[in-house]
Amino acid sequence: MKQLLEKIKQEAINSLQNAEKIEDLESFRVKYLGKKGEVTSVLKGLGSIAPEERKEVGALANEVRAIIEEKLNEKKEAVQNALMNEKLKKEVIDVTMPGKKCDMGKLHPLATVRKQLEDIFMGMGFSIADGPEVELDYYNFEALNIPKNHPARDTQDTFYINDDVVLRTQTSSVQVRVMENTKPPIRVISPGRVFRSDAVDATHSPVFHQIEGLVVDKGVTMGDLKGTLELFMKRLYGDDVKIRLRPHHFPFTEPSAEVDVSCFVCGGKGCRVCKKEGFIEVLGAGMVHPKVLKNCGIDPEIYSGFAFGIGLERIVMRSYNIDDMRHLYENDVRFLKQF
Ligand code: DAH
Repeated sequence: MKQLLEKIKQEAINSLQNAEKIEDLESFRVKYLGKKGEVTSVLKGLGSIAPEERKEVGALANEVRAIIEEKLNEKKEAVQNALMNEKLKKEVIDVTMPGKKCDMGKLHPLATVRKQLEDIFMGMGFSIADGPEVELDYYNFEALNIPKNHPARDTQDTFYINDDVVLRTQTSSVQVRVMENTKPPIRVISPGRVFRSDAVDATHSPVFHQIEGLVVDKGVTMGDLKGTLELFMKRLYGDDVKIRLRPHHFPFTEPSAEVDVSCFVCGGKGCRVCKKEGFIEVLGAGMVHPKVLKNCGIDPEIYSGFAFGIGLERIVMRSYNIDDMRHLYENDVRFLKQF
């Protein structure tokens, strides 16, 4: 019996050495340790041997069983480790392989710059107002001191929906809506699309963007207007930028001005881009006309205000050195990818 057990043990250890797969280990377990396995049979047969030998053989059989079990577990762990290593080796990632390129969407330059301007003005205490694109003639013209037959209407070739309704030609319409509904102090900007029946070329489009600004309070002066615009331009283009106000006429402001910034190419010396002027026109502005304040229910004896209208496309073109406005609308991916 003892010899048999010794033999079983040796055989088991030898055959375990050759086992490589998990399935081999399972059949090994069945063969030696299973219900009908070799070691189990010896243990079962203990009853038929002489009582004086029984104890010794029983102990030996249990010992052999324990040894086989231990070796089996060791082997199982080794096989599992080997499997895992093999799997890891197969799944290894080569970080030096060229990656797959996926195109990311991004903001249109018009949106980027609009947000930039909104941030600057919000930082100066302005809030953002909105108004409709399909607008009453009253808000777009009449209340802004541009009655029917006023020559200023001719300079803004208007898309009429009917006699009383237009596609707004300027964001100035929002000024009126804000003043009607808000008690001063007022500090708002209003970015949006405007429409004019213009032919498309490098500097014109029937749909373009403006940002309107309006400040109304007691004691607001032209100096406040200039200071506000100067700070805005410096925040946008850096401290070296200079602005220049030229007298102009708008029906809804008095006095009125056109505002230029120093040329981004020559810095004011005069070059081809600014047509030797040294400056480029970017917005219209002025002190809100007393008649307009009155139209909106604000007493011009108590309050005064300034307003301005920025052409967003001009600013974007200056920011990115774009020489043709049409690029901004054609949505050619080769163009948009550059930003
Ligand atoms: N609405 C004018 C335009 O479209 C721009 C403008 C000029 C707006 C003077 C203003 C302003 O608020 O005060 O040409």
